Amino acid sequence: MGIVGLDIGTNYTKITADGKNVLLYPSVVAFGEEKDWSLKGEKGGVYVGDEALSLIKASEGVEVYRPIQDGRVIHSSFIELAKYGLRRLSVEPEVVATGLPVKSSKKEREELKSQLEKELKGKVLVFPEPVGTLASMGVDTGVCIDIGFGTTDILVLSEMEYLRGDTMLSGVDKLYESLEVLIRDKAGITVLPEEITKMLLNENYSIGRIRSGKKVAIRREEVIADYERLMKSWVDRIVNKTKSLLEGLSTTLLDNFVVTGGGVLLPGVFETLKEGFSDIGEIKKPDDPIASNAVGYYILAKTFLGLKEETTEEVKFEEVKEDKKDKRKRT
Ligand SMILES: Nc1ncnc2c1ncn2[C@@H]1O[C@H](COP(=O)(O)OP(=O)(O)OP(=O)(O)O)[C@@H](O)[C@H]1O
Ligand SMILES: [Mg+2]
Repeated sequence: MGIVGLDIGTNYTKITADGKNVLLYPSVVAFGEEKDWSLKGEKGGVYVGDEALSLIKASEGVEVYRPIQDGRVIHSSFIELAKYGLRRLSVEPEVVATGLPVKSSKKEREELKSQLEKELKGKVLVFPEPVGTLASMGVDTGVCIDIGFGTTDILVLSEMEYLRGDTMLSGVDKLYESLEVLIRDKAGITVLPEEITKMLLNENYSIGRIRSGKKVAIRREEVIADYERLMKSWVDRIVNKTKSLLEGLSTTLLDNFVVTGGGVLLPGVFETLKEGFSDIGEIKKPDDPIASNAVGYYILAKTFLGLKEETTEEVKFEEVKEDKKDKRKRT
């Protein structure tokens, strides 16, 4: 049976057909003229992932979409992201398990489900994002904070039941916005989020542009002190929000206190979170915080199918995490 775990994130799409190997590519889709040369055999003027990204830098006159923004599907080209991954993995899935932010509306979930089912011709399951990571770690009771590019999702799970959750519109993008402004002021160049990531993760990295026939560059060491300062106040906001969400809950829930998403891999973020939460619990992260949701969705899909034969009660998991006050209260 073809099962796929699919995590279409604001910045990266992660997809797995075996629960182990995860393919990752930028969530970017470009529609353009067919290029003079197509060295990788892409046809039809639809470019996805790294190729679409290189088009942003190289060409004028192409339509470029980042279909997920602030945790919402804003453009139908998200389907291209899913199809591209399935093509690359050579899989025709019967079941695709995926996720949306905790505070997505029921309508958004239903729309995503029906559009994917129509286009991919398989059954689609939609989970609240951080559940993927908890499932990938074999945890059914605990707290998970998923710091993604577009949103930070906080979820409290008790025996695989949704207890509490929230979606903050403060993902890595908010941190990067301040850095982008800083870089524009310092060097007069506009940079892509993917370039900022490379710069933060690699010593001696610089981002360069040719401007008016000259080379203009910004080096990591020129921004790192400002980054530290901005990062600390950004993490503080996440810590405070989480603490207020956890108010009054049993401390046993914090036996499994997990932080995930690419945000926790940025310099100093895990350490700052650890310090911020030191008086309530010990945080841990999965082996691969970027891939863990996709892996967990795959595992959940398998469980779902297994349960289906025995009982119909648990099969309702998808509806279980429905928050009664399901107004999209975003912070
Ligand atoms: N090695 C890495 N490669 C890519 N991104 C990284 C890496 N390490 C840290 N990051 C950060 O992780 C971010 C992407 O995280 P993630 O994939 O969890 O977000 P997302 O799922 O696309 O967003 P969201 O969940 O909000 O929709 C990047 O923007 C970058 O800041
Ligand atoms: Mg994500």
